[in-house]
Amino acid sequence: MQIPPPQLSDHTVKQLVVRPVLGESPLRAQEAAAQLALPYNPALRSDEIELIVGETSAWLETAGLKVAIRYDSAAMLHRRHGGQNELLGRAVGVKSDRHPVVFDATGGLGRDAFVLADLGCRVTLCEQTPALAWLLHDAILCAQVSRYDGVRDAAERMTVHVGKSEAQSLGAATVIYMDPMFPERKKAAAVKKEAMMLQYLSASNDGGESLMNWAWQQAVDRIVVKRPLKAPVLGKRKASFALSGKSVRFDVFVRHVRGG
Ligand SMILES: C[S@@+](CC[C@H](N)C(=O)[O-])C[C@H]1O[C@@H](n2cnc3c(N)ncnc32)[C@H](O)[C@@H]1O
Repeated sequence: MQIPPPQLSDHTVKQLVVRPVLGESPLRAQEAAAQLALPYNPALRSDEIELIVGETSAWLETAGLKVAIRYDSAAMLHRRHGGQNELLGRAVGVKSDRHPVVFDATGGLGRDAFVLADLGCRVTLCEQTPALAWLLHDAILCAQVSRYDGVRDAAERMTVHVGKSEAQSLGAATVIYMDPMFPERKKAAAVKKEAMMLQYLSASNDGGESLMNWAWQQAVDRIVVKRPLKAPVLGKRKASFALSGKSVRFDVFVRHVRGG
């Protein structure tokens, strides 16, 4: 069944329930429901988003839309060698001898964070939606025992925090990375299913303005903002430079806050 993409301006957050995988032990699903303070319901429902938790797998599902995070999936392994990775790496300032510590303020499904960790950066991901943060954490634990050395190594460099980024301590991070949901995505004919799921789950969205204001007050060397290729720059300041790919652009704000 096809579901229309939620409109960022007027979408309502769907209720989340936790369901076990049919025929598997319900233990992990029950634990997740308790941890997330979400209703546990073994019965199939179609009007809610389900966090489906099995013995060794977990994913989000609603009305025909299924989103899982697997850092050693074929798609992610393919993406590890994609050109956009190089762009993202350059945007945060990765060099052969330099791997900045990154605070990813919009964790989402952790795809960009994984790319950065795979390039050698230590990355703290912050995600405001607890069920997504749970899924991210679970995906990282899975990746830490992947049969691929590179995936294991990258996962070891990733840490998840749950809550608003604005409430977190940045630790040793010298770069803030953000990929806020972009309001005009509602106009796209085919909004990616992951983006749709994130939009269903997200309680608030001002397009990243408040996050950008917060980021600007932090003592970091760089702020990197991912934007659709033709989108305006986020906030009122001019980017130091931008790196453009086929469909996205990274706006880089270089700052001199640490005296060097
Ligand atoms: C477009 S997604 C990011 C996708 C991510 N870059 C990836 O590669 O999967 C934006 C995510 O940021 C989260 N988010 C937005 N504002 C946030 C904030 N202030 N603090 C923490 N998370 C936030 C949303 O809940 C959503 O999951």
